[in-house]
Amino acid sequence: MSIKIKYIVLIIVICFSLSETRVFSGQCRKRPAPVVRPFFYRFYLGLWYEIEWYDDEYPTDDECIKFTYNHTLPFQFNMTLELKKSNDSWKDEVYEGHGSLSRIPSPPYSHKLVGQLNTTFSTGPAERINHEILATDYCSYAFVWDCQNVNATHYNEKMWYFSRNPNPTERPKTVNYLITKYFDQQFIRKTYHGPK
Ligand SMILES: *[C@@H]1O[C@H](CO)[C@@H](O)[C@H](O)[C@H]1NC(C)=O
Ligand SMILES: *[C@@H]1O[C@H](CO)[C@@H](O)[C@H](O)[C@H]1NC(C)=O
Ligand SMILES: *[C@@H]1O[C@H](CO)[C@@H](O)[C@H](O)[C@H]1NC(C)=O
Ligand SMILES: *[C@@H]1O[C@H](CO)[C@@H](O)[C@H](O)[C@H]1NC(C)=O
Ligand SMILES: *[C@@H]1O[C@H](CO)[C@@H](O)[C@H](O)[C@H]1NC(C)=O
Repeated sequence: MSIKIKYIVLIIVICFSLSETRVFSGQCRKRPAPVVRPFFYRFYLGLWYEIEWYDDEYPTDDECIKFTYNHTLPFQFNMTLELKKSNDSWKDEVYEGHGSLSRIPSPPYSHKLVGQLNTTFSTGPAERINHEILATDYCSYAFVWDCQNVNATHYNEKMWYFSRNPNPTERPKTVNYLITKYFDQQFIRKTYHGPK
């Protein structure tokens, strides 16, 4: 192999290894706003389109991302993540996950739910609250947040603006307030929802 080809291979390897989880230096801040409580879970179920998100992976070729939540057992649900690969002929990919709901811990409201979900796409129980619903009106939008320290010096923060509509005209007021006040526009990515 000539030196030139070796360089090209090296550059390709470096470019592909850039596709990794986005981390920030420091440690997770406190949740920027309270979670929805009480949480009307039954109204939250069904289909949500991902409209804007803090892309935790970059570059990403995932588009047309949508989630469907279905009730299964008491305090448990299944979720389906569907997406299309924009760099692979818009090939469909489907992932099945599941999760559980959080309850208000103390009586007399312990039968009520809070907008915190433990979700996972692997087998076995979801063990961490990783889907904190900071705002929703159930019928049009939801705003969700998550943060996790990856080690003592770095953290991974995520946020998602979901909508019942794949192409909403503008951000709902509450969502726009949360995004502009607490998040950095440069890390926000819009999900493409068609016509492909
Ligand atoms: C989830 O519920 C929807 C209707 O809301 C239904 O069309 C779909 O088949 C269900 N999916 C699963 C995996 O049960
Ligand atoms: C929910 O998902 C789990 C794991 O993917 C599966 O075993 C179970 O049958 C599903 N339940 C329903 C009601 O679809
Ligand atoms: C699409 O891009 C991702 C990384 O950005 C890569 O892993 C994948 O192999 C690519 N797929 C095709 C078909 O090029
Ligand atoms: C959900 O995650 C929290 C920690 O974030 C944990 O304390 C709790 O036990 C989990 N709930 C379930 C049902 O696994
Ligand atoms: C913490 O994680 C970051 C990002 O993954 C990494 O660059 C850094 O080396 C890690 N630090 C330690 C002490 O492991």
